[in-house]
Amino acid sequence: MTAKIEFDGKQYELPVTVGTENEHGIDISTLRSASGGLITLDRGYKNTGSCESAITFLDGEQGILRYRGYSIEELAENASFLEVAYLLIFGELPSQEKLDKFHQDIKDESNVDEEMKKILDGFPRSAHPMGVVSSLTSALVAFNPSSVDVSSEEDMYKSIVKLLAKFPVLCAWALRKRTGQPLDYGDSSLGYVENILKMMFKKANEDYKINPVVASALNKLLILHADHEQNCSASTVRIVGSSHAGLFVSISAGINALWGPLHGGANQAVIEMLEGIKADGGDTKKYMGKAKDKEDPFRLMGFGHRVYKNFDPRAKIIKKSADDVLGDLGIEDPVLDIAKGLEKEALEDDYFVKRKLYPNVDFYSGIIYRALGIPTEMFTVMFALGRLPGWIAQWREMRLKKEPIGRPRQIYVGENHRPYAEISNR
Ligand code: ACO
Repeated sequence: MTAKIEFDGKQYELPVTVGTENEHGIDISTLRSASGGLITLDRGYKNTGSCESAITFLDGEQGILRYRGYSIEELAENASFLEVAYLLIFGELPSQEKLDKFHQDIKDESNVDEEMKKILDGFPRSAHPMGVVSSLTSALVAFNPSSVDVSSEEDMYKSIVKLLAKFPVLCAWALRKRTGQPLDYGDSSLGYVENILKMMFKKANEDYKINPVVASALNKLLILHADHEQNCSASTVRIVGSSHAGLFVSISAGINALWGPLHGGANQAVIEMLEGIKADGGDTKKYMGKAKDKEDPFRLMGFGHRVYKNFDPRAKIIKKSADDVLGDLGIEDPVLDIAKGLEKEALEDDYFVKRKLYPNVDFYSGIIYRALGIPTEMFTVMFALGRLPGWIAQWREMRLKKEPIGRPRQIYVGENHRPYAEISNR
């Protein structure tokens, strides 16, 4: 199968790549050389496939999301986060034996060098945890220099296990610093998710009892966030990794990409928006009006998605989970009512219907995080904890396929050549 591009009286025949779900992509890799300079222009890469990937399939029109062929609904209902991490990274669900070894390897690497605490100390307590976590993730390189040059699968495995082990410790440290708690290294007798909770919330003078409702809700949230194919942060991880910069700094770059309010930072922005609406008397109509007003920069945070133009399947699961978790924990949160009110109005509103704007994964996740006792500034860090295996899987796939360095082109629209002017003549 081929596609033809006609330009300036000449025709270029280009191969078409067909995916296993029958998606078609015109392969333009030879276009520039064959045509003597013609490129395609696609702002925000809305129509550009950057790679062939076997990790995650999503169909934005039908609201389908699958990791390695398994539906997100089934995984969220049945799997553990660590199983899903293994699945994403290595391609298959692990046997019990493989999962136990993977978990043991992670536990064996969970120590973070004591010197790292000095770096943490350098941050003011008010520092946003995303900045702290991304800096500490980069700093890991200095303490694990062998993790940079990974040419074999065995080297990669070692780096991956180190990161899965140490990253939750760094996230917990960022929280504990903010809340003035002594730093903690967790408990190797616990499951991966339970250990995250204990590392974050154990008080110095008390035992920490795992609440199964909280652990199960967090397990589900982490699974729902674990990968989402070539989004802004995953593409960042791939492009940084494509220069062979190493896993830890590639992930650190992904964390920074995730931080923005148009991406993972939306979960914090949603709660702040809902709180703001509540403080302003709960008038959802006023805020609907602001969101539709093109003169007003306000957007309904947690609404809309680059790919989902029907519904975000993760949002469906999370909405139900928010109801369950708040019910099980006996929490009444007026912000949940405001969220439901806004959703109902938006789903019936022409502006949102026409533009196919539906609640995304972030619309309800913050409400659960709050119910679990996680402070608002940590919401995006929780997203990063969930997304870590996805980023790792994307990076590993890119390296194993020996993808070339990422380097887009541009169409230059600046000044043509002009002579340098002496400063006195400007
Ligand atoms: N509120 C109001 N209007 C919106 C919203 C919103 N949340 N989202 C999109 N629109 C409007 C735009 O103004 C635009 O209108 P126009 O056609 O009249 O100009 C139209 O819908 C299309 O929007 P784009 O920004 O072009 O869509 P894009 O695919 O580039 O952006 C994005 C997607 C960034 C998610 C956007 O919907 C948004 O800003 N949402 C709010 C932030 C958010 O929730 N981000 C989390 C995304 S999920 C994730 O990263 C995990």
